[in-house]
Amino acid sequence: MSDENKEVALNKPCLVSLVEGKKYAWCTCKQSKTQPFCDGSHKGTDLKPLVFKADKDEDVLLCTCKATASGPYCDGAHNNLEDEYAEASAEEVESMKNSVFVPRDHGEFGKALIDGGAYVLSPDDANNKTAGNLNYQPVIAEVDGATKLSLHRMVLSRGTSPWLQYKGVDTVLYIVDGTGTIDIAGKEFQVAKETGIYVRPGEAFRIITDNNMTIFAAVCPMLTDLTILDDNTATFQADYPERVVAFDLATANVMANRFYQELVDKKVGSNEVTQFIGEVPLSRAAMHRHLYEEAIVILHGFGRMWTGKKWAEVKLGDVIFLPHRQGHSVECTDKNGMRLMGVFYPSGSPAINY
Ligand code: FES
Repeated sequence: MSDENKEVALNKPCLVSLVEGKKYAWCTCKQSKTQPFCDGSHKGTDLKPLVFKADKDEDVLLCTCKATASGPYCDGAHNNLEDEYAEASAEEVESMKNSVFVPRDHGEFGKALIDGGAYVLSPDDANNKTAGNLNYQPVIAEVDGATKLSLHRMVLSRGTSPWLQYKGVDTVLYIVDGTGTIDIAGKEFQVAKETGIYVRPGEAFRIITDNNMTIFAAVCPMLTDLTILDDNTATFQADYPERVVAFDLATANVMANRFYQELVDKKVGSNEVTQFIGEVPLSRAAMHRHLYEEAIVILHGFGRMWTGKKWAEVKLGDVIFLPHRQGHSVECTDKNGMRLMGVFYPSGSPAINY
């Protein structure tokens, strides 16, 4: 087990590098002193360790809190063991009191590059390209250090956009503002604000609107080139009829004093990418990391993004890029809370962190 693993507390998962073909015994009795694995302490109880064999070399997060419903893997249940989501401790806040504030590199616009290649970007309309009624720009791309996913911001005025395609990859859209119709390779869906949409590899799409729309397009694997087509030559993949998922507070997952709802994920056939919408109360989260690469868009509210030695302000319309395993903490300083849309690869649950 690495030094990193020794630091993990019992209300957080443990990062373990599994070795293909090796068998592991995951503790279920909570008494092992060699968490997350069995040390024989269950003897005399009715409990037994869960023995499993790794089918590949893989870094995974194994549950140590034993509240998971997906043992031996963490499913995020540790976040609900307390009434409050894990907040930054006084010691943690003190340890970052000398963190350096990073402003945007072009006045009120541009990038604030924080630790480990993470950044906060305020997109500048001057960087838009235009295709008909569509103005678009990459906000996360390979040139920014992303390796798994890219993100475009699209702004549409009244009309019908050209046919668009990210060739051969998954496209996950999020409607920030406006209403309209999305035509995915010949099949139309009505869409509105706070809606996620999944376009499968090989399909093209266009947007028809009688108002203004702002849309973010996450693309995975990473592809920064948006192809503008003269016409649709693709066929809608009817084996996956459901493509649109609207935000619905009634079905959101409560995570202590905050909530999130997965929009585009495996339920609509998106096996690589997960998209979610989340609400953060006035608070400062404890530093944590994910095994995935993540893009976040601030939908309302404001606050700060801390990454250890540096921090940047975040506000409505900003984009945040987080490389996988980059420690980070979102602080909401808006008494009305902060809402954000996140999208990440590989797919999973946004509640799984370490
Ligand atoms: S550590 Fe148990 S669910 Fe995450």
